[in-house]
Amino acid sequence: MSNSSFTNVTVAGGTGALGFNIAEALLNDGSFTVKVLRRMPETPNDKADLLASKGAEIVYADYNQHDHLVKALNGTDALISVVSPGRTGSYDFDALQTPLLDAAKAAGVKRFIPSEFGIDYKVGDHPINDTKASFREKVVNSGLEYTIILCGLFAEYLGVLYDIKNKTAKFYADGSTELAVIALSDIGKYTAESLKLEESRNATIRVAGSRLSLNEILEKFEEATGSKWEVVVDKEVKHRFQNKIDPVPSPMDLYISVVLERASFENIDNDKFSFSPRPLVDVINVLVQMASI
Ligand SMILES: NC(=O)c1ccc[n+]([C@@H]2O[C@H](COP(=O)([O-])OP(=O)(O)OC[C@H]3O[C@@H](n4cnc5c(N)ncnc54)[C@H](OP(=O)(O)O)[C@@H]3O)[C@@H](O)[C@H]2O)c1
Repeated sequence: MSNSSFTNVTVAGGTGALGFNIAEALLNDGSFTVKVLRRMPETPNDKADLLASKGAEIVYADYNQHDHLVKALNGTDALISVVSPGRTGSYDFDALQTPLLDAAKAAGVKRFIPSEFGIDYKVGDHPINDTKASFREKVVNSGLEYTIILCGLFAEYLGVLYDIKNKTAKFYADGSTELAVIALSDIGKYTAESLKLEESRNATIRVAGSRLSLNEILEKFEEATGSKWEVVVDKEVKHRFQNKIDPVPSPMDLYISVVLERASFENIDNDKFSFSPRPLVDVINVLVQMASI
């Protein structure tokens, strides 16, 4: 592990679910000056306030105005994009991030980390991932250094498969299907430390908190709740979605079923990093506690 040649790091989307954890990990590391890039207009945001109280500079830009973005990125060595258009109903990661990449080039940014943070998707799997793939190609060909960080499923989001309140698990694949799962705080730490890692230059880095089957994760939920769960297996999601067969799955059901096909990594890079990730059971216990409030 070398010292980072990236002192000034900007996190675009640092107020988001993952972006906050990445910005916080950079600040906790102590070797970086951290800027959080937000969209104009300025809006109150608790996470931005918290990051500012820990030393981050909060900057605003209009993503549609190249000069605005370039000005906001001036002095940045590494730009970590953790933006997501999801909450607006659009899932075009390419359209959202292209202005950022163009501005990064103009501002002399050395390394770009795109908003990936998911699975080993293949082109054609799903339109959302196709927009990530087309943007990834732009990043790889941009002339900037890059790191693609893949981390499997966010552990805090396991509720999409495991319904704690109703003690029901919905699997879109065989129970033996293995998943890479990771806590948000660990993705933050891996991302921050990747900036100090020789092997992350122009590379894909795969990290995971644990790699367990759907059934093994179910056992952990059963232990944490002290009860036996019901399991519903639905493997026909893609077929029903494509052929509009009742009950027609929602686009989110389809997306989750696609994620499950690709959410396991053969090789992971955890041993290149200086720390061990949190055990999954820690996050599961927190989820169970939260569900009982
Ligand atoms: N592996 C997994 O299980 C998993 C799960 C969820 C997400 N992800 C991935 O993780 C990444 C981050 O997702 P997230 O859920 O953390 O994101 P998020 O919380 O939905 O949003 C992140 C930030 O993006 C900015 N943003 C939102 N809409 C925007 C727009 N239209 N234009 C520009 N900026 C916009 C906002 O920041 P400001 O308002 O401050 O500008 C927001 O706080 C994405 O790549 C996503 O696909 C992976």
